[in-house]
Amino acid sequence: MKIDLMETANYKGIPAMSPPEVHQYLNEIGQGWTGQGVAMEAGCWLGATSVALLDGLVKAGYDKPFWAFDRWRANEAEVRKAREQGVSLKINQNLLPLYLENTMRIYNSVSATPGNIPRTLLTYSKKPIEICVFDAPKRNPTFRKSMELVLPYFIPGVTVLGLMDYYFYARRRDTQRKVDWVEFMAPVKFMETYSEHFTELKDFEENGSCKFFRYEKQIS
Ligand SMILES: C[S@@+](CC[C@H](N)C(=O)[O-])C[C@H]1O[C@@H](n2cnc3c(N)ncnc32)[C@H](O)[C@@H]1O
Repeated sequence: MKIDLMETANYKGIPAMSPPEVHQYLNEIGQGWTGQGVAMEAGCWLGATSVALLDGLVKAGYDKPFWAFDRWRANEAEVRKAREQGVSLKINQNLLPLYLENTMRIYNSVSATPGNIPRTLLTYSKKPIEICVFDAPKRNPTFRKSMELVLPYFIPGVTVLGLMDYYFYARRRDTQRKVDWVEFMAPVKFMETYSEHFTELKDFEENGSCKFFRYEKQIS
């Protein structure tokens, strides 16, 4: 999630790129787990959002693998953001051990696949998905391909889809000048195209940029 006019806060000491309100909501979503499918996050970084979700899932009695996807290689921006939150990383550091240490403290069945999304999503078990958080697939073709890989496993009337950075680009749609900004509108365009298939659950337009939806009607 890009930081835009918002305060981020680490979650339980884990540096985050998302604010406390979003962590709180992820926690609520986790607590609302119904037992019908797995939870997954694509774009996990050090695990703050995964752990916020897992805290809720554990309370709800979650008993399935938690699926996590990321390349887990620290770049310059990540090193800086972690340093601002008191954690020292090195450029190109493999972050997977840190992610596993952070998440497995509270839930021991974490299936973490390092590498590039969407390719890594091909390793997904193809079981029904109840909660899907995307904080890495943000522009096309990555976003479209990622959605194509997970949508067949969404459960109509049940699956919660969280799109981080939804508003970061949406609110710039009339003013953005960078050549590639249209590609970053992929999540917004997708949700507008399939608006009849989703209902809006929660909006963090002002703080967090993300938006949560429930998948209601099958997309063929
Ligand atoms: C915004 S950060 C996630 C932050 C985390 N969800 C939080 O709020 O604390 C995005 C993460 O996605 C990963 N990422 C971005 N594009 C990716 C891609 N195509 N494949 C794999 N990982 C990717 C980055 O490595 C980074 O860890």
